[in-house]
Amino acid sequence: MHSIIIFASGAGSNAQAIIDYFRERKDVQVSIIVSNKKDAGVLSIAKKENIPSSIIDKSIINSASFVEELKSKKPSLIILAGFLWRIPDTIIRAFPDKIINIHPSLLPKYGGKGMYGANVHNAVLNNNETESGITIHNVNEVYDDGATILQAHCHVLANDNINTLANRIHKLEHYYFPRTIDFILKSS
Ligand code: GRF
Repeated sequence: MHSIIIFASGAGSNAQAIIDYFRERKDVQVSIIVSNKKDAGVLSIAKKENIPSSIIDKSIINSASFVEELKSKKPSLIILAGFLWRIPDTIIRAFPDKIINIHPSLLPKYGGKGMYGANVHNAVLNNNETESGITIHNVNEVYDDGATILQAHCHVLANDNINTLANRIHKLEHYYFPRTIDFILKSS
């Protein structure tokens, strides 16, 4: 049995895609959903799906007891699905090569601090890029810098706005993120 932990700060559409993908699978279970925002949509998803959840603040995420709580779930993977805080080094060191993130651009372009959500798509549109995409990567001590696991590309159209581009990117994310997780679990 693979236990996976999801960290998310927002609506949770990626978390939902992951839950849906593994719903009928007996060998993979989402053990807990962790969020730093008490009104995050992802917490409603956790409730609806009967998945335990935990709301954390900065003191909790930096505490030794939180690392122990995560360890107690024996995760094969910790998945950052739109989680906006940097993961403390103590957690990264406790789970080497087991933390992955999804970013809504073709890293290294449009990565780094402040580059999240609409900010990313806005910058892509302002620079008249003709393509964008997603990057799934390992998480290390530097923001958006770990080894790339998968990139998927899409066109940026001349009449795109932030919403149309964000929707296209979300479709890529919802397709590729669960399948990449499955691939990593099967190869581990
Ligand atoms: C996604 O676009 C992801 O790439 C980024 O945050 C967004 C989360 O969206 N890191 P959602 O909460 O999964 O809908």
